[in-house]
Amino acid sequence: MTARIYLSSPDVTDAEEQALVRAIRSGWVAPLGPEVDAFEAELADYCGRAHAVALSSGTAALHLGLLVLGVGPGDLVATSTMTFAATANAITYTGAEPVFVDCDESGNMDAGLLMDALSQARAEGRRVTAVVPVDLHGKVVDHGAIGAVAAEHRIPVLSDAAESLGARRDGRPSGAFGAAAAVSFNGNKIMTTSGGGALLTDDAAQAGRVRYLATQARQPFVHYEHTEVGYNYRLSNILAALGRAQLLRLEDMVERRRQHRLRYRQMFADVPGVRLLGEPSGADGGATRDNFWLTSILVEPKAAGFTSEELRLALAAADIEARPVWKPMHLQPVFATRRAYVDGTSQRLFETGLSLPSGSALTDAQIGRIDAAIAQFLSRLNVVA
Ligand SMILES: Cc1ncc(COP(=O)(O)O)c(C=O)c1O
Repeated sequence: MTARIYLSSPDVTDAEEQALVRAIRSGWVAPLGPEVDAFEAELADYCGRAHAVALSSGTAALHLGLLVLGVGPGDLVATSTMTFAATANAITYTGAEPVFVDCDESGNMDAGLLMDALSQARAEGRRVTAVVPVDLHGKVVDHGAIGAVAAEHRIPVLSDAAESLGARRDGRPSGAFGAAAAVSFNGNKIMTTSGGGALLTDDAAQAGRVRYLATQARQPFVHYEHTEVGYNYRLSNILAALGRAQLLRLEDMVERRRQHRLRYRQMFADVPGVRLLGEPSGADGGATRDNFWLTSILVEPKAAGFTSEELRLALAAADIEARPVWKPMHLQPVFATRRAYVDGTSQRLFETGLSLPSGSALTDAQIGRIDAAIAQFLSRLNVVA
């Protein structure tokens, strides 16, 4: 029996094992310690930021990022509807309401619809305290366009870069955009600490406040003194060691995922009605480059002669995981009553989109198996001669 192929499995090697052993042998097993300090410095440097605060998840980074930007109960926060629930959940934790904005064909937030959302809120006298655009599947948002709309309304941008670490746009790395940015080291992300995240900022006071809130808002006294409600959101020293080893391999992991993208491009090149989401994805070595976290295809059933669901089932039968792209937040029952500025694009991407196995740990043999399963599916349909 062959092993199941997953969408995006962690990619860990001897280097990670050695880093974990180093951290344990150092005696710094409790939260915080030298690995956390070094990881924060290395991550900030990689992302072109003055400060990084390592946290227990990307969701925690979004939550604290919103709090330090002054988001609170009764506020509105404009965000991408095409995202994972964590973005909207973090907004909700603060007591603010998410306002969902549709994407363009790239999958990222549409600047024109953002303008509509902010203008209407202003006309109604509602306070929008932050804009949180999401870098879908590893493509950095057009921060020129989104930032200009946000700046016109004097609203800070918190970049949800959970999926895009390692990508760049116009020469600037993912994580460098906006007043602050949140990244994730969840197990399915391009690099992992098994679970973790970070807030990136250039503002020392902001970074200090995030650190303070993330350590139970503990005041600097010998005894335990608290004047505010805090959170237990810090990353442990052991997990930071894992993160450091992964960060050293990040460029290689991006390159491996890029190779998968090229392979998928080839597989579907002659299939009518199928295109890759988020293409073009930037040339290697160029100023703009996706991190290729997930490769997803969009299937127009009439032209293709099959649906994305039929392909998903065929792959599942071959023990290969594929998944629909995110179901937009405005279509989720939990957020159905929230404001939404949508034109049907994200719904179409959800209905026609399928994410394919993209992990950097995929072996050549596994990619060969995926290729064969797709070729067999297409040949059964007579899609390709
Ligand atoms: C767009 C987006 N935002 C936020 C998160 C949350 O990150 P985490 O799982 O580390 O809390 C994720 C992934 O999980 C994500 O894909």
